[in-house]
Amino acid sequence: MAAVELQEIEKSFGPTAVVKRLSLEVKEHELLALLGPSGCGKTTTLRMIAGLERPDRGVVRLGGRVVDDQASFTQPEQRGLGMVFQSYAVWPHKSVFENVAYPLQLRREGGLEAKVMEALGWVRLAALAQRRPHELSGGQLQRVALARALVGRPKVLLLDEPLSNLDVALREELRGEIASLRAKLGTTMVLVTHDQGEALALADRVAVMNKGVIEQLAAPAEIYGEPATPFVAGFVGGANVLEGVARDGRFFIEGHAFELPGGAKAENGPLTIAVRSEDVAIGAGGPELALQAKLFLGSTTEYRFALGPQVLRATGPAKDALQPSQPAAVSFRAARLFGAR
Ligand SMILES: Nc1ncnc2c1ncn2[C@@H]1O[C@H](COP(=O)(O)OP(=O)(O)O)[C@@H](O)[C@H]1O
Ligand SMILES: [Mg+2]
Repeated sequence: MAAVELQEIEKSFGPTAVVKRLSLEVKEHELLALLGPSGCGKTTTLRMIAGLERPDRGVVRLGGRVVDDQASFTQPEQRGLGMVFQSYAVWPHKSVFENVAYPLQLRREGGLEAKVMEALGWVRLAALAQRRPHELSGGQLQRVALARALVGRPKVLLLDEPLSNLDVALREELRGEIASLRAKLGTTMVLVTHDQGEALALADRVAVMNKGVIEQLAAPAEIYGEPATPFVAGFVGGANVLEGVARDGRFFIEGHAFELPGGAKAENGPLTIAVRSEDVAIGAGGPELALQAKLFLGSTTEYRFALGPQVLRATGPAKDALQPSQPAAVSFRAARLFGAR
């Protein structure tokens, strides 16, 4: 039985359809990431699971039980969920202990002290139980929020961009924290994020959303290795998505003719291809393009070539004599073909 099931959910705000006939199942103990750009409908989808927003149409089930189907509606606090948001939403005047105890107090649960201290142990904050929020770092505040969401042992934990407010180092640390909490507690989790690295690193499966629709739902390696659509290739893999025309085994774009790599076959006509920046070869044949910019990234350098109004990104060795405005021969070592759109 699915821990969470959305069946043909639709949601509009005014005339704008934000979630479009979206269906999704989250398995028990699974961490599913909802990944997509800002505004694609991730938070709205999560809020409909939580009961903070009602779908216009469709059914929401938790553990096989209908919690929203127009005819019936289960209140958010009756759904057995935990939630963590981007903003820590920790009460400033309560201690760490009191923050985490609060949901149990609302439910008049016994054994408060032991449960709160156990939850603080999960996020390694037991020693700071008496601290006030202003004495904590952003990472610690988010761990308080995690402990508060988990202390009632929810069946499903909903996480909405929980790491987006943290700087890079803390984000990495909290990532590990979420992974180990999951391993320890086995809680089903739905993680909303716009960060593909985070989704790929943490999730069992990733649902890539674009404009209110799931474009692909698969394991991280499959999403990365076999993107189903140009959008997924571009958004998740960071690939160059190029629209041109195929003719006699070659790909024409902006007046340049590229060989399709690996003997790839395409029917003559409009063609979209996705080429990862590491699959763009410089100085190994192909049309000459002008180098627009060169970005030193540490272990590699990114080269940006002008392809008409489009930009073609290539990853090359950190040391390279290429200079901006200099032309260089550019070809593709590998590409994914998507046919006409
Ligand atoms: N309460 C609301 N009223 C009107 N528009 C909203 C409301 N909530 C979200 N939207 C709009 O719906 C779209 C999707 O929003 P959201 O689900 O928050 O996207 P995401 O979390 O993927 O960034 C956005 O265009 C947003 O402006
Ligand atoms: Mg959002």
